[in-house]
Amino acid sequence: MNNSSPRKVRKVVLPVAGLGTRFLPATKVIPKEMLTVVDKPVIQYAVEEAIEAGIEHFVFVTGRGKGAIEDHFDMAYELEATLKARGKTAAFEMLEGSRPVAGGASFVRQQEPLGLGHAVWCARELVGDEPFAVTLPDMLIHGRPGALAQMIETYNARGGNIVATEEVPESHVDRYGILALGESYDEDTHRIIGMVEKPKLEDAPSNLIISGRYILQPEIFDKLEKQKPGAGGEIQLTDSMIALLKEQDFFAYRFKGTTYDCGDKVGYLAANLAYALDRDDIAPAFKPILQSFAEK
Ligand code: G1P
Repeated sequence: MNNSSPRKVRKVVLPVAGLGTRFLPATKVIPKEMLTVVDKPVIQYAVEEAIEAGIEHFVFVTGRGKGAIEDHFDMAYELEATLKARGKTAAFEMLEGSRPVAGGASFVRQQEPLGLGHAVWCARELVGDEPFAVTLPDMLIHGRPGALAQMIETYNARGGNIVATEEVPESHVDRYGILALGESYDEDTHRIIGMVEKPKLEDAPSNLIISGRYILQPEIFDKLEKQKPGAGGEIQLTDSMIALLKEQDFFAYRFKGTTYDCGDKVGYLAANLAYALDRDDIAPAFKPILQSFAEK
């Protein structure tokens, strides 16, 4: 078991190569990660959550047609110069504060859609031999502090590998990776003793899902290298974690916050409502409209 004192988590891998077929026609030209929740692209919430958690380097695993993501996290020179010249300081500062620092982002392409495990493996050279985070941007987590900051705090205390978890209704277990838990360390942290990717309800060891945030040790790349396709014929990150579980500690962490699965239309719409209701500049005008719908 891995008992060495935990090394700092400096990098996050953001798999963003998915085709977004569930959101066609919106995603015919626009990457699904660029769809907005209120006025911010889904991917930007993930980046801001990671900045808050102290992450220094962002590794985006992209694919063809995802150029807008790279442009979004670049400086928009003409736009920013114009905002500055016109004295629109708040808008200028908002843009400036919401992107990685110069040199703080790397982009690598997953050439074929072979699965999440393959996408993470594509980041191996950019991550190197150090622990790293993985954020699946579709899983938008509304929490203060953000879910990744909470996980890094747990990781710093415990080391090993950490997987964010939460309960879902039984009817949803076949959409996710599912955890089997062992001993508990505190109310929110348990040892993981098993995992299964997208099981049928009767095969699921619990209704605790893998919630799209991970802190992983670099040895996962050796497992991914050899990983055979699993559920859905794809190379699954979950299957490589199962292999690493024999050698290293894995902990499930129940973060504080609410998840909106923006890979699903209903989840995406719910995210828009929740984030709008959380905004002082929008909620007062929006709430009565929402109430009028509820009364229909
Ligand atoms: C992936 C993971 C799964 C996890 C889910 C969270 O599945 O393989 O274990 O529960 O993300 O969204 P995907 O949604 O890519 O099919």
